[in-house]
Amino acid sequence: MGLYSETIFPWLLDRALGHPNIMARRRALVAGATGEVLEIGFGSGATLPFYDPARVTRLTVVEPSEGMNRRAAARLAASPVPITSVPGAGERLPFGDGRFDTVVCCLTLCSVSDVGQVLAEVRRVLKPQGRFLFLEHVLAEDPSRQRWQRRLTPIQKVVGVGCHLDRPSAELVRGAGFVLEPMPVAEEEPAFGGLAKLTPLVMGAAIRA
Ligand SMILES: C[S@@+](CC[C@H](N)C(=O)[O-])C[C@H]1O[C@@H](n2cnc3c(N)ncnc32)[C@H](O)[C@@H]1O
Repeated sequence: MGLYSETIFPWLLDRALGHPNIMARRRALVAGATGEVLEIGFGSGATLPFYDPARVTRLTVVEPSEGMNRRAAARLAASPVPITSVPGAGERLPFGDGRFDTVVCCLTLCSVSDVGQVLAEVRRVLKPQGRFLFLEHVLAEDPSRQRWQRRLTPIQKVVGVGCHLDRPSAELVRGAGFVLEPMPVAEEEPAFGGLAKLTPLVMGAAIRA
């Protein structure tokens, strides 16, 4: 794999997504994680410190990038909860049906190759009353921002190693057979500096419809 995607990008991402506003969102996102938990697109493991050992029995994480997995190694060693790291992709989760109480995606649906297939897999591996927790940057509501998001996505896919600025991820979750309890996050907060207007955040909890 390339030097940029496997070494430079994981280093950059660790810094960009370590912003205090994002870290606060990570904490809020996984406060609701309980029991057997799966996190898809674990990256360098920036959300790991916020899982509550009193509520989480075991955390299983899936991440396809070797560079990300290398960066995650130190955090895995200091995990507050029992943890298993599995190389792989969200489109083909190597787990049986109904295995998890909670599935987490944090800034991951923007980057997967086939978001519909990932959401179908999330639904499959969740227990019937399980919850899907997600924090994603999404397509803006304002048409002029949408135009910029669509214009810049081809560049962002290169710079951000597959990241799309124009995915309506909350809508896609709803359309994949989930009932959603959206918890919108104020998009004016400078979570990504000047890019904030192009990366409005949505945090949500969803259960199988
Ligand atoms: C923007 S990063 C976010 C990383 C991490 N979730 C975080 O919040 O810091 C997107 C992550 O999704 C991973 N990813 C890309 N395609 C994926 C796929 N098909 N299945 C699972 N993860 C994927 C990338 O390797 C990367 O680690």
